[in-house]
Amino acid sequence: MVHAVVATAYGGPEVLSLIDVDPGAPGPGQVLLAVHAAGVNPTDWKTYTGAYGTDAARLPLRLGSEAAGTVLAIGPDVDDVSVGDEVIAYRAPGAYAEQLIVRAANTVPKPPSLSWEKAGGLLLAGSTAMHAVTATRVGTGDTVLVHGASGGVGSMVVQIARSRGARVIGTAGRANHEYVMDLGATPVVYGPGLADRVRAAAGGVVDAAIDTVGTNEALDVSVAVVHDRKRIATIAGFAHGAALQVQVLGNGPGADPGTEIRNAARRKLVDLVVAGRLDVRIAATYRLADAARAHRAGLAGQANGKMILLP
Ligand SMILES: NC(=O)c1ccc[n+]([C@@H]2O[C@H](COP(=O)([O-])OP(=O)(O)OC[C@H]3O[C@@H](n4cnc5c(N)ncnc54)[C@H](OP(=O)(O)O)[C@@H]3O)[C@@H](O)[C@H]2O)c1
Repeated sequence: MVHAVVATAYGGPEVLSLIDVDPGAPGPGQVLLAVHAAGVNPTDWKTYTGAYGTDAARLPLRLGSEAAGTVLAIGPDVDDVSVGDEVIAYRAPGAYAEQLIVRAANTVPKPPSLSWEKAGGLLLAGSTAMHAVTATRVGTGDTVLVHGASGGVGSMVVQIARSRGARVIGTAGRANHEYVMDLGATPVVYGPGLADRVRAAAGGVVDAAIDTVGTNEALDVSVAVVHDRKRIATIAGFAHGAALQVQVLGNGPGADPGTEIRNAARRKLVDLVVAGRLDVRIAATYRLADAARAHRAGLAGQANGKMILLP
């Protein structure tokens, strides 16, 4: 038996428990991982706080979506992954666990230069960012507005857009402006007057906007400064984004899941890391048993970077 985190009810982080589970044996096309690091993402708490419904039949809920670890066993029909390989897994449902079965196709090799912590927090935010940058056709010479430039997804958007030759203006709280500058973007503070600050920072046309925050402000400012709504995307403001007829990306009614783009992004993200063009900022690490503490920090907006669970 191994430890795994589950939500035993719908509610706040107090519903999380560490329980014993049988990891099982990998079936066809699957591998068993010893998890060394699991990334924490807002979707993890949205799973049990009611954002995705409160169907009692789904309880207890396993948590987590991404992990980095060592392959302990492989199932039939697995050709390109071997026992002992160090890999990063996304999509990896139930990743808050000491051991986990994932599809071999959902793993990519972990480069030795990438720490377990950074590997565990790379792929969910990174593939979402790649989807947003691709959907808005960000390329050389563009000026791009990124809402939430200091966040898990936003910081990836900034770095990928910069690697494509774009200029980036990024919204962030004042405490994160130095970090946003280090990423290569011009920081602007969010709040009243944002559109004017963005226009002043741009000094000309803003070609595209990517919202990773989901406030009405972020979307309203985006449509005020970007002419072409096909070049505006949100990953968090689903209802207002749909009303404004901008691109709504992710898993939700009417949203574009971008499955192929996101799956193909996994190897591209690792390549960018190896090339020194992409980094993951770690806010803090927590033991698996302290997942609720990590979630409280996330819900309070206190994490500057990715939080990582270490089984
Ligand atoms: N659709 C999808 O496929 C998909 C995928 C991944 C994530 N998401 C969603 O995207 C959102 C962001 O995820 P994340 O992992 O990047 O979260 P995160 O790391 O917590 O980042 C959130 C960022 O929002 C900024 N922020 C907070 N309040 C703000 C405000 N009023 N105005 C502007 N910015 C503000 C924060 O900046 P400061 O700290 O500098 O203030 C922070 O950097 C979440 O809602 C998540 O569920 C969606």
